[in-house]
Amino acid sequence: MSQHLLLPLAILAISPIPGAFQDSALSPTQEEPEHLDCGRPEPSARIMGGSDSQPGTWPWQVSLHQGGGHICGGSLIAPSWVLSAAHCFVTNGTLEPAAEWSVVLGVHSQDGPLDGAHVRAVAAILVPDNYSGVERGADVALLRLASPARLGPAVRPVCLPRASHRFVHGTACWATGWGDVQEADPLPLPWVLQEVELRVLGEAACQCLYSRPGPFNLTFQLLPGMLCAGYPEGRRDTCQGDSGGPLVCKEGGRWFQAGITSFGFGCGRRNRPGVFTAVAPYEAWIREQVLGSEPGPAFPTQSPELQSGLPEPTDENCTIALPECGKAPRPGAWPWEAQVMVPGSRPCYGALVSESWILAPASCFPGRISSDLPPRDLDNWRVMLPSRPRAERVARLVPHENASWDDASNLALLQLRAPVNLSVAPRPVCLPHPEHYFLPGSRCRLARWGHTEPVPGAGSLLEAELLGVWWCHCLYGRQGESVPPPGEPPLALCPAYQEEEEAGRCWNYSHWSLLCREEGTWFLAGIRDLPSDCLRPRAFYPLQTHGPWISHVTRGAYLEDQLAWDWGPEGEETETQTCPPHTEHGACGLRPEPALTGGLWPWLAEVHVAGERVCTGILVAPGWVLAATHCILRLGSTTVPYIEVYLGRAGASPLPQSHQVTSAPPLLCQTEEGSWVLVGMAIRGSRELFAAIGPEETWISQTVGEAHFLPPSGFPHWLPEGGDLCPPDMARASGSPRAALFLLLLTLLIQG
Ligand SMILES: *[C@@H]1O[C@H](CO)[C@@H](O)[C@H](O)[C@H]1NC(C)=O
Ligand SMILES: *[C@@H]1O[C@H](CO)[C@@H](O)[C@H](O)[C@H]1NC(C)=O
Ligand SMILES: *[C@@H]1O[C@H](CO)[C@@H](O)[C@H](O)[C@H]1NC(C)=O
Ligand SMILES: *[C@@H]1O[C@H](CO)[C@@H](O)[C@H](O)[C@H]1NC(C)=O
Ligand SMILES: *[C@@H]1O[C@H](CO)[C@@H](O)[C@H](O)[C@H]1NC(C)=O
Ligand SMILES: *[C@@H]1O[C@H](CO)[C@@H](O)[C@H](O)[C@H]1NC(C)=O
Ligand SMILES: *[C@@H]1O[C@H](CO)[C@@H](O)[C@H](O)[C@H]1NC(C)=O
Repeated sequence: MSQHLLLPLAILAISPIPGAFQDSALSPTQEEPEHLDCGRPEPSARIMGGSDSQPGTWPWQVSLHQGGGHICGGSLIAPSWVLSAAHCFVTNGTLEPAAEWSVVLGVHSQDGPLDGAHVRAVAAILVPDNYSGVERGADVALLRLASPARLGPAVRPVCLPRASHRFVHGTACWATGWGDVQEADPLPLPWVLQEVELRVLGEAACQCLYSRPGPFNLTFQLLPGMLCAGYPEGRRDTCQGDSGGPLVCKEGGRWFQAGITSFGFGCGRRNRPGVFTAVAPYEAWIREQVLGSEPGPAFPTQSPELQSGLPEPTDENCTIALPECGKAPRPGAWPWEAQVMVPGSRPCYGALVSESWILAPASCFPGRISSDLPPRDLDNWRVMLPSRPRAERVARLVPHENASWDDASNLALLQLRAPVNLSVAPRPVCLPHPEHYFLPGSRCRLARWGHTEPVPGAGSLLEAELLGVWWCHCLYGRQGESVPPPGEPPLALCPAYQEEEEAGRCWNYSHWSLLCREEGTWFLAGIRDLPSDCLRPRAFYPLQTHGPWISHVTRGAYLEDQLAWDWGPEGEETETQTCPPHTEHGACGLRPEPALTGGLWPWLAEVHVAGERVCTGILVAPGWVLAATHCILRLGSTTVPYIEVYLGRAGASPLPQSHQVTSAPPLLCQTEEGSWVLVGMAIRGSRELFAAIGPEETWISQTVGEAHFLPPSGFPHWLPEGGDLCPPDMARASGSPRAALFLLLLTLLIQG
């Protein structure tokens, strides 16, 4: 996983129509001047965040084909030589045969046959002896063409820098290629060469960015011979399929190739500028390889003023970019909250995800998502955004293709007619990448989503803490199912609310989205558009699986890397885990509520906490009641609340209106001799999963001398292994501090 996002940018991006290019190696070659002119496009005429180039702007750009498809970019440096990246040609330590490759020159759009484009076979591929992988540097290759390229307005060589050439920090340069336009988002037809302006970043500035943990908590040590270009804030970058292509900078009317597209950590991510192979340090190597070839590449001297220009600041400011999305003045005042007003229906709440796009549930627009036609009344739709004096108009509605049958894909994107200026408000919410791992214990809030009802007690801040992936998955998943490890999208996200649901406070037909905070930045983590009785939603569909669709449609939604990596001791194991079998409801003498009566279960106790909620307790000795910690101590709180315990009346009298028993009854089993044994306590959020008491025997008996334990032989014979009833981590260690967190023993003070 650690190398997950270190991506050589050479994955097949497009596969042109077979036969689109005819090998024109036999066409006449024009006379070449002895001193090659370089770096001057004829005046006339992967890239992320870039745009279509004009034909003839980048006449040295070539496309390297293997098996009939574009694999990498390259640059023409002399009639018979192309410069590219080693990693395009080395697989598993072995250099691929030159015969498999061809070079397409003078091509602009790769869709269909083209006038002016011509193809050359590759006679030899040369790679430095010590190349051993992109991240170890020397990612450079030279291709000798079987016959010289036909130079013309669309085919011209670029200038190469000498070893002494300096590209100063901040220089505006251009990268070009036919690579992906975003992560996992290939260049669309007609495959027009893309260009993007990138700024050269000084070594120190770039290392400063890469020293900060990025995707997967990775940092990276840049090596000599590498060059960074891009922006700390990301968004414009090279991407898969751009590898080997040139980064060129204009000096004195000529274009010099400063870098070769090599690799990146994702594409266009914040604080992860593209890494290029610096060309200047390879002057000697290139000259050596092309020796005797006439005409060879041109290495014009840099003008002295430029070379001796500003000295590279040594104490460069180490300025990392901070997220531009997901900042709210306070919980509840969400600057991305959008209300979509469709004539004839209630407002639909959604979230601003970029300058121009709103994400909302597709179910807000019934009848408009099934047809391919845009809604006829789109002209009358309006969007209200915070701090905007007037409503915005809507240009387009793009429902998720699976919205009509998949609740987890109940999403639509609305494009505004005019982009809004982003500032403190409106400001977009951050969206997670697919590999985002919201840490257990993340602080979350609910936000309005879709056609939500007015909320009773709207002052409530609805604070929630995220349960672990294992916990959530096993509460809602199937027995024995394996749980997705961190880094794979979870099937659900479960919040545990600070205030448990209370009778009289119904959340019927309220739809919510789940916002979770990392380092002060809010992510839209989950969506839920299903009413769930009188309860607040217990499980949300994770939004992260939709990241690729959202960025494909919007081309600029604020997908943000994970910001919190401190997997503390509460963090989960990274290996795949399976869920334990659920215990049948009602097994072992457990009676479904509300059949609990004091007479029948004399050991049951009502534990009233802070005068507001009631937990189930169980009398284990004259002075001791056992209860689940999660019910007694609120999340994040370490102070013990005021507690009252009522014995001999559990279930006998109706609870006060505002009270509800918030923890499930314990699991009791009867032995053959007829004694009832406490076997398990319901785990947080569940009525079917129980933490086994067995492993806590030592802790309980040390604390409560008088507690009665049955000898192992006296245990109910059918009882499965302890681990079957409980999460593996709780079954593992007897009396471990971790397991002890889940049980609380209350000493009773005699009252009255
Ligand atoms: C890569 O090389 C290793 C060792 O040389 C070999 O075991 C492995 O099968 C190779 N993998 C591929 C995909 O060729
Ligand atoms: C490869 O060898 C050259 C010349 O010895 C050296 O300058 C360069 O740093 C080496 N590169 C790597 C990646 O080892
Ligand atoms: C993340 O990286 C930092 C710094 O490299 C390290 O201290 C921390 O332990 C890492 N966290 C995880 C969960 O790997
Ligand atoms: C760093 O940048 C800030 C603001 O751009 C500036 O005020 C400060 O002087 C810079 N520090 C150094 C060491 O360059
Ligand atoms: C829609 O569902 C199909 C089948 O499950 C899936 O292959 C496809 O990727 C989904 N589309 C999107 C945009 O997620
Ligand atoms: C956005 O802000 C800039 C300056 O802050 C202003 O010139 C421009 O008119 C604004 N655009 C819109 C659409 O409000
Ligand atoms: C919510 O649903 C419950 C049960 O279906 C019903 O008794 C109650 O009146 C509803 N509350 C509201 C506010 O609609």
